[in-house]
Amino acid sequence: MKGIILAGGSGTRLYPLTRAVSKQLQSIYDKPMIYYPLSTLMLAGIQDILIITTPQDQELFKRQLGNGENFGVRLCYAVQEEPKGLAQAFTIGEEFIGEDPCAMVLGDNIFYGNGFVEMLANACRNAQEGKATNFGYEVRDPERFGIMELDEDKNIISVEEKPQYPKSNFAITGLYFYPSGVSQKAHLVKPSKRGEVEITTLNAMYLKEGNLKAELLGGGFSWFDAGTFESKLEAENFIYSAQKNRGRVIACLEQIGYDQGWLDLENLKQSAELMQKNSYGQYLEKIVQKQLVKRKKEGQ
Ligand code: DAU
Repeated sequence: MKGIILAGGSGTRLYPLTRAVSKQLQSIYDKPMIYYPLSTLMLAGIQDILIITTPQDQELFKRQLGNGENFGVRLCYAVQEEPKGLAQAFTIGEEFIGEDPCAMVLGDNIFYGNGFVEMLANACRNAQEGKATNFGYEVRDPERFGIMELDEDKNIISVEEKPQYPKSNFAITGLYFYPSGVSQKAHLVKPSKRGEVEITTLNAMYLKEGNLKAELLGGGFSWFDAGTFESKLEAENFIYSAQKNRGRVIACLEQIGYDQGWLDLENLKQSAELMQKNSYGQYLEKIVQKQLVKRKKEGQ
């Protein structure tokens, strides 16, 4: 299973913030925005990840994340010359994806909630079985999003991009799983009226074949599309409070890499030392100490 983070776009919605530095590299409380979608792919068990950026921002992303070895993943990079639509990710990433199933997450989408890992596992299984998955989340302002209409059994019966008269309140979040062959399909997507290769058109193709599944992010779940001043601030406030209340760092990539068995304790120690002066590093150090005590107990 491969993964793509789409982190391009014009960024004009956040001007003047994004004049010099890409949105997805800006902070959501104590870490760059892109850590959150990267954590989503890692929680899905995906290690091979392509990061798509604008031509001018690629160097900064590389400086921030490197080749991913600090997190136990393999990162590579590609450029989207112009923001011509989300479905372009699969034609740009065609060689990277090869014959594998592939997930894609938008670089400004933040997911947090109970049962997420299980839902991600379901989506991976669907992809292996030839089916695509969209993640739905109930919103107040459905005209701002891609929308899924559901029947009584929670099967998707229609998908529409930013409809004037939405058929439901379930937004299609910026996290998508597709089976092998998604690049070939993406080539068939014709640009919409606004000149974009829409992800919703790609999803509609899977729906027409009877191959589009929904995972619904329930009541206790939080989803942010941190692409406006307000939603970015809301996301930051949420992460700050949730971390403070639970004593757990959300989207701590080193921790996820360790839990997945992709990093060893020595890797964690190095990262902890590098950031020992702040709460992120101190959190990692705590994990290291806990693991050392556990090992001692187990006589290793
Ligand atoms: O966040 C979920 C929504 O994302 C979905 O509900 C919609 O169906 C989907 O079209 C998308 O809507 P947005 O209005 O948020 O799309 P936007 O054009 O803002 O792009 C989303 C992110 O992807 C943004 O961070 C910029 C980046 N992007 C966008 C385009 C069009 C790219 O990297 N390349 C692109 O070509």
